[in-house]
Amino acid sequence: MKYYLTTPLYYVNGAPHLGHAYSTCVADAIKRFRRMQGYEAVLTTGTDEHGQNVERAAKRAGRSAAEFADRVAAEFRRQWEAAGIQYDRFIRTSDPRHHQTVQWLFERCRERGHIYQGAYTGQYCFNCELYVNEAKPGDPCPDCQRPTETVTEENYFFRLSAFQERLLELYERHPAFIQPEARRNEVLSFVRGGLKDLSITRTTIQWGIPVPVEGRHVFYVWFDALIGYLTAVRQDNYWPADMHLIGKEIVRFHAVFWPAFLMAADLPLPKRIVAHGWILFEQDKMSKSRGNVKLPEPIQKVVGIDGLRYFLMREIVFGQDGSFSYDALVGRYNADLANGLGNLASRTLNMIAKYCGGVIPGPAAGLDAGVGRLAREVIFNTIDCYENLEFSRALEAVWSLGAAVDKYIVEHKPWSLAEREDLESRTQLDGVLATAAETLRVSCVLLYPVMPWASEKIWRQLGQTDPLGEQRVDKLEWNPPSELPGRPLGQIEAVFPRLDKAEAIHRMQELEQQARREQAELLGKPEEATAAGPGEGKITIEDFAKVELRVGQVKSAERVKGADKLLHLMVDIGEPQPRSIVAGIAQAYTPEQLLERKVIIVANLQPRKLRGVESNGMVVAASIENGQPVLAGFLEEAPVGSRLK
Ligand code: MSP
Repeated sequence: MKYYLTTPLYYVNGAPHLGHAYSTCVADAIKRFRRMQGYEAVLTTGTDEHGQNVERAAKRAGRSAAEFADRVAAEFRRQWEAAGIQYDRFIRTSDPRHHQTVQWLFERCRERGHIYQGAYTGQYCFNCELYVNEAKPGDPCPDCQRPTETVTEENYFFRLSAFQERLLELYERHPAFIQPEARRNEVLSFVRGGLKDLSITRTTIQWGIPVPVEGRHVFYVWFDALIGYLTAVRQDNYWPADMHLIGKEIVRFHAVFWPAFLMAADLPLPKRIVAHGWILFEQDKMSKSRGNVKLPEPIQKVVGIDGLRYFLMREIVFGQDGSFSYDALVGRYNADLANGLGNLASRTLNMIAKYCGGVIPGPAAGLDAGVGRLAREVIFNTIDCYENLEFSRALEAVWSLGAAVDKYIVEHKPWSLAEREDLESRTQLDGVLATAAETLRVSCVLLYPVMPWASEKIWRQLGQTDPLGEQRVDKLEWNPPSELPGRPLGQIEAVFPRLDKAEAIHRMQELEQQARREQAELLGKPEEATAAGPGEGKITIEDFAKVELRVGQVKSAERVKGADKLLHLMVDIGEPQPRSIVAGIAQAYTPEQLLERKVIIVANLQPRKLRGVESNGMVVAASIENGQPVLAGFLEEAPVGSRLK
């Protein structure tokens, strides 16, 4: 049986961030789970490349829209591959095959009388690429709050208003069509409120799919992008989709426009539209336009791909918003993965190596009945949770089993049993270790959709040779005959090494800065590609308050050996001892010029060593031509140590 699921097709106005990675990882987990149930599961992801925003981003980067889209699309693909996402199709809306599908669908709708030509004047939000129907000139966009612009154009309309009843009937007949419930209710009230026809072409944009009519029309972004789901599988028999997984802000397009387009063209409808919540960073939606995105790769390099996947699916209750922070990430990693699962695995495996010659015992006395009962329940509940996309609860269920086995090991003290010589102790010891090993085996199968690599590693250490991803989760049983007993263990290695929190966070931040530089270089002119547009990337006053700026006075200055740009300064900032600071200003200032000079110091930077000299702060300077520094100072008297606000 086939199971076709999709992620959104991501805009290519910037590189992938953690929000995109979240959708993609969840989709990957669902796909893996369905495969383990025996479905022929197919996952489509890809990029939505047309429209004004991409045109703009390309221009800022000094590239053509096509070249810019090529680069960003390749970056999405590279990152999903590096993260081991098992996607089957990567659809780019700039692909000629997709152009054909869109034109074909348009013709089908037109032949059936659902398209007409008209003039439209309205308030348009260029950021969201939407007309704001109810807005008057000068009104802001209700979604992004940016000003709307008045636009008049001759374009083609889709008769959305004619589909109100059929859509309501669809939601009525298939209550699970839109999930979760809260999103379904939003859609219901939106559709009940009446639907306006939709303008689906533009003459104001160049970068798009040509409409097969006279004139310079290209398709409007949603009549283009949504159809990508169909293009991806038009050659095979996978349509209709079983699930479109999306973020909650694009529910309306998927649950109203998309089924209406398909109804108009007499094509089968997707079975489910499932919306997840947002990843927040410091209470705010993580998004490029808010300038607060975190990048997935630097995180994966420190906590592993599975560490990140575990965090996202355990911490965020699916369907709701959830916060990301480095602190919470490393906290969970250490508590649940290093001390939890990782520790259970290494304890169990090491004891089997030590007390049983590295061969999983076949217990004469059988496995523990209590643990067995719990395990059967956990198997049932976890599968049920996955079915309902309750990832967090699924993981909690598996952890409850791990915790019970931990306790069971402590109570039965295999290390004491191993010291005794009698047969009964030996039998008991075998029973305890076999129970623990079987718990691990079952946990591996249950955890595979969320943590494919770590589970596979533990699986191999248990001496299993069949690929874990090909196990049937629906056939998973506790202690089936001839699974583990008698198997020699594989090479034992730690799966989740414990992390020093401060160090791990520092490392992720460092890697992130590096990744941002690399991305800027890849996508376009470095400064321009990263520079924020008007209103973009602003920080709050609280953000600014985190930077501790103080008035300082230079007490000594000398050149740093072997570095012709660096000066080593000792700066009094009102603390008992002057600060040691290394500044890259030696080509603009001599040490003598700086003595007793008042400067502005960033006082709360992480200390670092430059050429072996500790630098505990930074001197603020303007950077003028060729990066030459000009020190900031004061015209009036400013006492040493005063804080700048
Ligand atoms: N191109 C459209 C989708 C067209 S689908 C035919 C689009 N692209 S997007 O690049 O803006 O990606 C939006 C999707 O990325 C969201 O629906 C969600 O899946 C994911 N996320 C982006 N930021 C997110 C968070 N902060 N949190 C969680 N997911 C978010 O919309």
